[in-house]
Amino acid sequence: MPHSNRNSGFATRAIHHGYDSSAEQGALIPPLHLTSTFTFTSAEQGGARFAGDEDGHIYSRISNPTLMILEQRLASLEGAESGLATASGMGAITALLWSLLSPGDEIIADMTLYGCTFEFMHAGLKRFGINIKHVDMTMPDQLAAAISERTKVVYFETPANPNMRLIDIAAIAAIARQYHATSIVDNTYATPALTRPIELGADVVVHSATKYLGGHGDLIGGLLAGSTELVDHVRMHGLKDMTGAVMSPFTAHLIMRGLKTLELRMQRHCQSAMLVASMLENHAAVDKVFYPGLASFPQQHLARAQMADFGGMIAFELHGGMDAGIRFMNSLQLIQRAVSLGDAETLIQHPASMTHSTYTAEERSAHGISDGLIRLSVGLETVADILEDLNQALHQQRNKAA
Ligand SMILES: Cc1ncc(COP(=O)(O)O)c(C=O)c1O
Repeated sequence: MPHSNRNSGFATRAIHHGYDSSAEQGALIPPLHLTSTFTFTSAEQGGARFAGDEDGHIYSRISNPTLMILEQRLASLEGAESGLATASGMGAITALLWSLLSPGDEIIADMTLYGCTFEFMHAGLKRFGINIKHVDMTMPDQLAAAISERTKVVYFETPANPNMRLIDIAAIAAIARQYHATSIVDNTYATPALTRPIELGADVVVHSATKYLGGHGDLIGGLLAGSTELVDHVRMHGLKDMTGAVMSPFTAHLIMRGLKTLELRMQRHCQSAMLVASMLENHAAVDKVFYPGLASFPQQHLARAQMADFGGMIAFELHGGMDAGIRFMNSLQLIQRAVSLGDAETLIQHPASMTHSTYTAEERSAHGISDGLIRLSVGLETVADILEDLNQALHQQRNKAA
């Protein structure tokens, strides 16, 4: 029997859920089903599968046994009925939104979105007659005032990339539900180890599995989870016919390997990020630090209510703004200048010129992404080494500024 006990602990399900080794000659690790297509015992069977009268695989752009284990595992970890794997996080977001929206519909999104999600909405969906509105969802009343029967989707990230704003998932999902709008949470930053949006009332969770779920910086992948009805619809429309952005079984294997240590890694990411955020906050060269674990974080109360811990991502600004930030980043020796996040390696980047350069300068300013903001993904190295590297670069930065 495949392991499917929903009462098992999070780490147990992350390691076992959805897989039965006795059905695979005792192989401890799920085999990779490297096949594009699946044979039918008869023409009638093929027809029955296409008609949906018989269960079974047809073609790997629709489903694949290796991906299925990952999909069920992610659904279990998110507390959802079903999951779907895609070629990238953007593959999950685009397949989902193409499946839900038609010309004339409206999507209401939070002010702060990952740069390519923002670009997909404004340069992509808008061209097809879909109206995009942004409201500040840190104030749920703003959504309540803006939403209408035209609104089909309510979309947000929490914590938001890159400025760490938190959104009250239960409050926003409740407003969306009143209008029969689908609430979508990008849970890439928190992961289900820290926050489970569906248990708080959201309809769908999307992930860049490239980040913490994979966890090792060696893959690009996406996942989403929600009701079986919705996931089946996205599989058969947005994924099969509109994007074709299917995950490879190799990638599914790597993500399942990553998931085994998700809880463990998140504990270490959180512990180290707390120490790093505290050090930054007390450093004279640092102007502002945004980390949900800090007492100074304006949404500490929500962070404690909604997150099991505060995650591995930090945003901060130095005195001296963008120029100081660039000099500081160039002085780092251990910490790598790179986009992406959630890897074992500590990564640093400058959203205004990198991940969020899809926004115009005016849009960034209206959407709360300042030019001096630096984004740090705290990795799994010995934390003393991370702190030492940051300290030496801050020290050089101060000396240059003096
Ligand atoms: C919050 C968030 N959502 C979605 C994505 C897109 O994911 P991918 O790069 O896997 O397509 C990213 C990528 O950085 C992200 O940070």
